[in-house]
Amino acid sequence: MKRLTEFVLILLAVFVASCSRKTEVASPDGSIHLSFRLTEEGAPQYAVARDGETVIDWSALGLQCVGQDLTRNFALQGADDRFVHDTWETVWGEEREISDTHNELVVHLKHTSGMEMDIAFRVFNDGFAFRYNFSEQELKKLTITDEMSEYRFTADHQAWSIPWRTEYYEGLWTKAPLSAKSDTLCSPVTIELQDGGYAFVHEAALRDYPAQNLYYKDGALRTYLTPWLDEHAQPMDVKAYKTVPFPTPWRMVILTRTLPEMVASRIMLNLNPPCRIEDTSWIKPMKFIGIWWGMHIQTMTWEAGPKHGATTANMERYLRFAKQHGIDAVLAEGWNLGWEDWKHFDFTTPYPDWDMDYLSRLADSLGVQIVGHNETGGNAADYENNLDSIYRYHAAHGIHAIKTGYVSPIVRTIDGLQFNKGQSGVRHYRKVIETAAKYHICIDNHEPVMPTGWQRTWPNLMTQEGVRGQEWNAWSVDGGNPCEHVTVLPFTRIMTGPVDYTPGVFHFENPVIPTTRVHSTLMNQLGLFVCFYSPLQMACDLPEHYMEHADAFRFIEQVPCDWERSLLVDGKIGDYCIFARQGRGTDDWYIGGITDEQAREAVVPLSMLEPERTYALTLYRDGDNADWQNRPYDYRIEHLTATCNDTLRIRMAPGGGFAITVIPE
Ligand code: NOJ
Repeated sequence: MKRLTEFVLILLAVFVASCSRKTEVASPDGSIHLSFRLTEEGAPQYAVARDGETVIDWSALGLQCVGQDLTRNFALQGADDRFVHDTWETVWGEEREISDTHNELVVHLKHTSGMEMDIAFRVFNDGFAFRYNFSEQELKKLTITDEMSEYRFTADHQAWSIPWRTEYYEGLWTKAPLSAKSDTLCSPVTIELQDGGYAFVHEAALRDYPAQNLYYKDGALRTYLTPWLDEHAQPMDVKAYKTVPFPTPWRMVILTRTLPEMVASRIMLNLNPPCRIEDTSWIKPMKFIGIWWGMHIQTMTWEAGPKHGATTANMERYLRFAKQHGIDAVLAEGWNLGWEDWKHFDFTTPYPDWDMDYLSRLADSLGVQIVGHNETGGNAADYENNLDSIYRYHAAHGIHAIKTGYVSPIVRTIDGLQFNKGQSGVRHYRKVIETAAKYHICIDNHEPVMPTGWQRTWPNLMTQEGVRGQEWNAWSVDGGNPCEHVTVLPFTRIMTGPVDYTPGVFHFENPVIPTTRVHSTLMNQLGLFVCFYSPLQMACDLPEHYMEHADAFRFIEQVPCDWERSLLVDGKIGDYCIFARQGRGTDDWYIGGITDEQAREAVVPLSMLEPERTYALTLYRDGDNADWQNRPYDYRIEHLTATCNDTLRIRMAPGGGFAITVIPE
């Protein structure tokens, strides 16, 4: 009897152990299923299936820390779950309302060392996310040397990526099977699943932690956290110094059957905390022109001299042009001291030929904003130490948007020379945004850390670079951005948030490097204003170039940069894309398309329009003989009427595109 009881007890123990070691959570619609388990060694793992098919097989979780191996020897203490169904309104965005609907599972783990670690999983209808959380406990400090989070996709899918050391993320994205990616990669990675679906691997709510990078090894995409640098600027083993309690950033994977669904996913924003700015009325989406392209095509200089761009007279001309054409703001680069050596920028002293008081009064009287410019040359420490006085100066001159810059592959933070995407750099960017908010200043951050959705919490972070932008078409020795580049970005970099690509070149001859140029037709440049989302949207060319094609410039005057709704009408990564967006607070729609070096017919059903209404359309399209190389200026502007039952067929030339305004009659 005793032996039988023992046997039953053992069976019961095995049963309880296996139940408590395997935990499941599904998306609200039941299509995505995530399983959690602890292995025999107490190592946490997860797996994900969609529609009953495993997409990610058992994959490792956990952290390696100095003196703590948090990858095994865990016991499951319990688990909590909850269903969240919420809707929130964006301050600005690709749509007014975002729904956050997911199931959450939190597993509570205890390590043999006594350390407690939770892993929270959230499963949405279009993907999933997880993060590690350390609550208040005896151990107060953790020095993280490695994060083990991995994604063991069940097939060797094709993936789009750039290498992790790509300076400022300004690279050309390439496609190859995961197994052929020999480099460590920047996050995000966009994956074309073999079943026709898509996966987008990235992170959300990066805070006081290094940015994630990814590498493929032994069948799994794995995490490589950006390391700290030592006093000789060499990578250290240490990735993050943390004080308990803290959560890590979210690791997220968008998982959809179609490309429009991937583009529409708002998981990243949903994983960020709600807005921390109480009164957001001062945060305004704006289109701007600027004293900028002239420096890149070398007809002007940043530093003072005979070709100085940011002079009082030139700025006055730009401000009056903006006023005349309904453009909200003007950026000026090179207005402040320091451009001679890029080492000692002074953010509150203009060059003598820039009259800040006069220009700020003029801008105010015209109702045009000035976008300030603070290039740090990578000296983040100096900038950070003076943030309050710099922002006070700008605010006192009515400047409520600043483009920041960190040109230097390694930046000098208050912790010495560091990767900008390391923990110290991440802290710096966050401090800039939070301080700027106090002075009602919006930020356009160049040379940033890859966006992870901070703009939900701090909507004064309006746009960022982190992209091989238009400027490469002015000076890149490789000839400029190939036509394909712009058809990849909406599905890779721009999935992480607004981009300051600076569309709108209207003049393709390059005075300084004739072999380098914009690989597009003029209509493709218009299409970018719809395809590339940015609530601070620059039209980058010179006023005189815009006046060479004033009829086409009309589209730039009209297109908004804040939206009620947005959708990808059609697209293929690296080939073409067509977006439609409804202007915020209006019934007007804007449709834009761009193609790579192949001519294509865009098929645009107008089913997004309201039934029983007629719309007046202005179609800006490539001319019949247009092509980016020989006839970029060949375009037609046509006026038509249409209803939601119509389908447009528009030819896009090689490197071409189109733009349409759709206004209810
Ligand atoms: C690089 C930025 O991307 C560009 O827009 C800017 O003009 C220069 N740095 C100078 O700050």
